[in-house]
Amino acid sequence: MAEGARGEWVALREDDGRAYLLQRSPGELKVKGLGRFDAEKILDGYSTGDRIVVGQKSLTIVDPALPEARRNMSRRAQVIGAKDSGFLISWMGIGVGSKVLEGGHGSGGLAMHLANVMGASGTLVSVESRPEHAEVGRDNMVRMQSFMSEFPEWHLIEGDLGEVAERARGICDNFDAAIIDVAEPWVVVGEVATLLRAGGRLACYCPTTAQLERSWNECENIGLIVEWAGEMVERRWVKASKGGVRPGNQPMGHTAFLLIAARVAPDEEE
Ligand SMILES: C[S@@+](CC[C@H](N)C(=O)[O-])C[C@H]1O[C@@H](n2cnc3c(N)ncnc32)[C@H](O)[C@@H]1O
Repeated sequence: MAEGARGEWVALREDDGRAYLLQRSPGELKVKGLGRFDAEKILDGYSTGDRIVVGQKSLTIVDPALPEARRNMSRRAQVIGAKDSGFLISWMGIGVGSKVLEGGHGSGGLAMHLANVMGASGTLVSVESRPEHAEVGRDNMVRMQSFMSEFPEWHLIEGDLGEVAERARGICDNFDAAIIDVAEPWVVVGEVATLLRAGGRLACYCPTTAQLERSWNECENIGLIVEWAGEMVERRWVKASKGGVRPGNQPMGHTAFLLIAARVAPDEEE
């Protein structure tokens, strides 16, 4: 296989799936978990698919994709992971060319999953009220954009989700989907729902039952139709030491309750 070009992004993958992203470029860099080195020198003569030893670690050089980016992202706020992102993307019908609004953007966990499926024809608008979170999310997204073959048109609005409708509308009208991950979704659903096309869907990510109930009630109050509410339960299995496979010993963790509601036409006047 041909040796990689200068500037190319690669992922160094541990056998357990942990990954480190780096760019073939000259000069010393610090990679958390791997140490300090000159990536161009250390990768010299190696290509994708090769095994390389860095420090004490034996790693496989792979093309970076969403799983490597996710394992290696900087985190400030709690992120939405694959379990919930995958369900939201499928249920809400998000794909190539979709127009999606999401906020709070936080560290960009959900945004990275969205960008992964939206293609170059999609438009993703992220909203984040805290500049220090926006900075972390932006870094994660910019890095992912630099190695993805296709990436949506991405905008990050720094502001409050309840006050950014005009700015979002200025970027794109008639969103197909909006996903709200803030502490008080019910405060902003009314404003966010005005951005949706008829048939478009709005989701609230609600860690607690109180958040779910208030969001549910507010969605109904403003005329949205709640299509799905509940939680995704994930249970991992392991190989048993005496043979066979079985559910592991780790507890079944909770992330959040999800609420998905659709915008429909208003009632006909009598
Ligand atoms: C749990 S984090 C979001 C995580 C993100 N969805 C992810 O997957 O990485 C919640 C974020 O919402 C932001 N936030 C809270 N209220 C907000 C509001 N009204 N408008 C915009 N962002 C808000 C917070 O600053 C925080 O970064």
